[in-house]
Amino acid sequence: METKIFTRATVADAAALIQAGELVAFPTETVYGLGADATNVSAVEKVYKAKGRPSDNPLIVTVADRETVSRFATITPEAAKLMDAFWPGSLTIILPIKPGALSMKVTGGLQTAAFRNPQNEATLDLIRTAGTPIVGPSANLSGKPSPTTAQHVLHDMDGRIAGILDDGPCEVGVESTVIDMSTDVPAILRPGAVDETMLEPIIGPVSSDKHKVGAKETPKAPGMKYKHYAPEAQVVIVDKPADFPAAIAWAQTTSQTFGILATDGLLAQYGQDIEEYSLGADITTATRDLFAGLRYFDLHPQVSLVLAEGFPTDGLGSAYMNRIEKSAGGQHFSSKSEH
Ligand code: TXA
Ligand code: MG
Repeated sequence: METKIFTRATVADAAALIQAGELVAFPTETVYGLGADATNVSAVEKVYKAKGRPSDNPLIVTVADRETVSRFATITPEAAKLMDAFWPGSLTIILPIKPGALSMKVTGGLQTAAFRNPQNEATLDLIRTAGTPIVGPSANLSGKPSPTTAQHVLHDMDGRIAGILDDGPCEVGVESTVIDMSTDVPAILRPGAVDETMLEPIIGPVSSDKHKVGAKETPKAPGMKYKHYAPEAQVVIVDKPADFPAAIAWAQTTSQTFGILATDGLLAQYGQDIEEYSLGADITTATRDLFAGLRYFDLHPQVSLVLAEGFPTDGLGSAYMNRIEKSAGGQHFSSKSEH
């Protein structure tokens, strides 16, 4: 199949493909998604096939307005407050669904579903023109970093999907915050740009699995079910800028070709003669450019080790560290331990 590229000017053609049960990748402010008519079971099945995604991993339902959510789920007053505050935007809300309202292919057999109202105007136009909500997992092959440009999508999905709606690079760069509003205490299941200090003033205490975000997780074996954002090279997180000289000295002893994924200040100090990818100026640009950086090193297979800058886990840092932890399989540089 030929994968066609669409733009804002040709949204109607992309919408016709969605209506015909085909797959069209779409831009959002977080990452690119893989769109299919959420009410068409065979279209949804194609999404799992194109991504190589395990069928028990449920999909987000992407909507252009909150009225569409109420077709499938009851919007509680607390959920409505979140929609008032953060929609359209980078917050995905899990709600109990009306029995039978959505296919098990979408929900993975759960009695809940995840709903998201993204910011991108071309995508909102696509959903309105198609006249149906679209499922929207990230448009990468399962296990690879999420795509933040149409080129990333094409790299993974060329020939596997009918089209890509290209609206330039994503601004946030990591996937939306996922909050479960179906439990007694709301729970953050995935950190994103909307963090708990923004959520708690609106809905009170939320739980979040902090140890998964910041701490030194046990390295996960490649190929495990939960492998995520995994580049070909081994990523090792360097938590503090001051540890970079020791980390570089260690990397030089490994006889591997290594690269550095870090912000400009660090690269200016330590990046000479080393394969590098710039994460820009600060945590905002680092989060935006993280997945592009991981994909960059995949295109340079001689690099088998990547030293990646760590950040404190407040604000956007919790989303950044959550993703880099997974791509590193929990590996951190420590000047005291052997690697
Ligand atoms: O920013 C985003 O959310 C992007 C853009 C394209 O919208 N989409 C995205 O989708 O990241 P995906 O499928 O890659 O991640 C959705 C996450 C998955 O980890 C999935 O397991 C979880 O949300 N999820 C979906 N429905 C759920 C449910 N009913 N209960 C618990 N987790 C759910
Ligand atoms: Mg994903």
